[in-house]
Amino acid sequence: MRLIIAVDGPAAAGKGTLAKSLAAALRLPHLDTGLLYRAVARQMILAGLDPAQDAGETIAQRLQPDDLTRSDLRVPEIDRGASAVATQPAVRAALLRRQRDFATASGAVIDGRDIGTVVFPDADLKLFVTASAPVRALRRFQQLHGDAPPDRDALARLTEEIETRDRKDAERPVSPLRRAEDALLVETDHLDAGAVLDHVLGLVRARF
Ligand code: C5P
Repeated sequence: MRLIIAVDGPAAAGKGTLAKSLAAALRLPHLDTGLLYRAVARQMILAGLDPAQDAGETIAQRLQPDDLTRSDLRVPEIDRGASAVATQPAVRAALLRRQRDFATASGAVIDGRDIGTVVFPDADLKLFVTASAPVRALRRFQQLHGDAPPDRDALARLTEEIETRDRKDAERPVSPLRRAEDALLVETDHLDAGAVLDHVLGLVRARF
């Protein structure tokens, strides 16, 4: 089946984990579109450019597949740089075609912020994945530090960073983070990754 499944939501809500496992279960390709914005920010920083001030369009147009697999794309500097560069309309336009080309031939599970609203408004299924900010901060802490006991200051800092990034993503004028009207809400506060996947696979099987 050439399904296009759009998975949107705020930072660290579990959408990446869900999109990856859903794609594997349905044998569809997976695209994490956050990596595109992260790769543009990384290249800009390496070139001495400021993602919040300088134009990223040319770098976005020239992005290569290898640029999406760098190991340093998930560091805090790139979190901030990606969300800054994501406010530039020309960068978003340059990345739009790439996202559409990826999914159109074979179907795909695509995760991001504006997939169900802008990139694939006619997706076969749209999911909007959320969790409360403290739960998301704890998950991000565990991603960064494994099983280390969470410390209160670090969690407070991560909660603030996550809330700042969400605010920025939701308030920008171009392609803001928002739930498409026809997106199904998936709240993951009380569900682990396996339970979220089972729930969504149930939704997919009921529809297709
Ligand atoms: O999903 P991830 O946290 O890796 O995304 C990094 C940043 O890229 C987000 O905070 C957001 O500003 C931007 N982004 C976006 N649109 C997407 C995916 C990511 O604006 N479809």
